[in-house]
Amino acid sequence: MYNKPIIHAAGSKREFWDENDPVIRDFMDCIKDLLEIPEVKELDKFHQHCNTSRLQHCLSVSYYSYRIAKKIGADPREAARAGLLHDLFLYDWRTQKTPEHHAFYHPKAALENAKRITELTNNEERAILEHMWPLYHGMPSSKESVAVTMADKYAASIEVVGQWSRLCLKKLHIVRS
Ligand SMILES: [Fe+2]
Ligand SMILES: [Fe+2]
Repeated sequence: MYNKPIIHAAGSKREFWDENDPVIRDFMDCIKDLLEIPEVKELDKFHQHCNTSRLQHCLSVSYYSYRIAKKIGADPREAARAGLLHDLFLYDWRTQKTPEHHAFYHPKAALENAKRITELTNNEERAILEHMWPLYHGMPSSKESVAVTMADKYAASIEVVGQWSRLCLKKLHIVRS
């Protein structure tokens, strides 16, 4: 269970709740309705990578998807929303048996769950389904999909490498926490 407030995307200093930051204000406008939905809030109860909650991971992916989308000419709102919902599955992937390997199964589960809680555009659907590329069979089918798959890999790398590095530095008594 996670009670730590989520302040910013992994690897970013921009604070999600800073209303004086125009980039953050526009980003939060894209997703704030989704953040009120109980299924999305529940993501905070699950570990994603190392000590990162799934909600923190999804917010990081959402933020970077939004930023990448702006750079590559994709729709930033669609990218931000698909990024937030891309891992909307409510089970522990380390212990839960799934009909096929979790890596292939969870994008489909996330898409089904996302469809239950909100209306999705075609681009949002495809971006959720394809986010595990290159494990997904086929290339990302839209710029929004490219944004989400890139953001997912970037956020996951920071979460895993950051945690692993901190652990090593702690073992060496270079940092305390
Ligand atoms: Fe995923
Ligand atoms: Fe992810």
